[in-house]
Amino acid sequence: MPKMIPEPFRIKVVEPIKLVPRPEREKLLVEVGYNPFLIRSEHIYIDLLTDSGTSAMSDRQWAGIMEGDEAYAGCRNFFHLDETIRDIFGFNYFVPTHQGRAAEKILFSIALRAGQYVTNNMHFDTTQANIEAVGGRPVNLVIDEGLDPTSRHPFKGNLDLDKLTSFIEEVGAENIPLGMITVTNNSGGGQPVSMENIRGLKDVLAGYDIPFFIDACRFAENAHFIKQREPGYADKTILEIANEMFSYADGCTMSAKKDGLVNIGGFLAMNDEELYQSACNQLILWEGFPTYGGLAGRDLEAIARGLREALDESYLAYRVGQIEYLVGRLLEAQVPVVEPPGGHAVYLDVRRFLPHVLQSQFPAQALAAQLYLEGGVRGVEMGSVMFAHRDSETGRMVYPDLELVRLAIPRRVYTQTHLDYVAETIIELYQRRDRIQGMEIVYEAPFLRHFTARFKPVS
Ligand code: F0G
Repeated sequence: MPKMIPEPFRIKVVEPIKLVPRPEREKLLVEVGYNPFLIRSEHIYIDLLTDSGTSAMSDRQWAGIMEGDEAYAGCRNFFHLDETIRDIFGFNYFVPTHQGRAAEKILFSIALRAGQYVTNNMHFDTTQANIEAVGGRPVNLVIDEGLDPTSRHPFKGNLDLDKLTSFIEEVGAENIPLGMITVTNNSGGGQPVSMENIRGLKDVLAGYDIPFFIDACRFAENAHFIKQREPGYADKTILEIANEMFSYADGCTMSAKKDGLVNIGGFLAMNDEELYQSACNQLILWEGFPTYGGLAGRDLEAIARGLREALDESYLAYRVGQIEYLVGRLLEAQVPVVEPPGGHAVYLDVRRFLPHVLQSQFPAQALAAQLYLEGGVRGVEMGSVMFAHRDSETGRMVYPDLELVRLAIPRRVYTQTHLDYVAETIIELYQRRDRIQGMEIVYEAPFLRHFTARFKPVS
């Protein structure tokens, strides 16, 4: 038997892609101020900007699209999704939202007051920004191994429970209206969180009466890692593992654009009835009636079907196998990457890739731009552009521990040959890394600057 695992699907619809010639790529990069976010998708060859909303839907999901019930209130797809969320996540109530950040906005607008803290292993950028938008303070308490790209700890997404207890004691439980955990830890290399850690987190938070919410975007990938790596879980199904993960929580935010295998959608789920009522009020203001949120009936149906497909073990083995494969090819060529391979993306460790570029000169941005130039491949900067901030007390810039370029793999979209091409592009860049220079910012927005910032090479 061959050892490789081929894609567990065959391809029924194709979308042509093309590589624009290098001189044109060079011109385009200058035009967009070296920010790959601003390049048109038609000019990208392999698009690894995100795994969010970029999945290929299955034939069953597309069939579900035709079964969309577009009634304003009480559409049947809502009840199908309700049943699915109950089965997998087990919460009493949920509201659909147009995507994950809308669920975050609603949650923080009703549960958080200015000056209060929200703890997490590592907040994703939209979570951080939505907390700050209501005057709250996001706090990251990932274990130290989670900030060391070379540590091979099996659950580098774990939250440090001692740090959490000290933090609660320091600021007072009354100033922490909720504690969170992000599975998998996207900002820290797509690394999983163990069941033991989730259980321990619940115990600590419950001991102080602090509600516990899971940022559930990549829950199925996290459950797969628990099955593979945590003693006692090898014989459980992904559904059983997901059930247990969420049994410890009071609610979750979800971007169905990830493990819901859809192009748009999300939800906010919880057990508390009063919180649900408040969420409905905000939902009607910002998103829509509680049986559709910000979505069409057909979208709700695609999510209900996608959530189930994400639990399929052959799908998950292929999915996580793709990341392992790409990481393996890069390691063979000594390219520094975050290890062990995470769930949805390969992360280039730019501090080791470009040790000659200072963090103040945005090395990960420089590398992301070069990746496009070299092979028409689009990744995303996750370093000083996305996460550096000015300390409000000292006025000094604080740079993040991790300086990464993330290559997120869309679900069921690219084949192994595409990944080989990406590996070769990166290896070629690595061989000429000495010639890659840093960047300086010529324009930035007041928040979430990475989406629209413009750069030029340092002179
Ligand atoms: N939480 C996590 C962990 C995420 O990765 C994202 C989105 C969100 C929340 C927000 O969800 O995009 O549906 O509003 N991550 C995408 C990414 C954008 O590229 O990693 P959303």
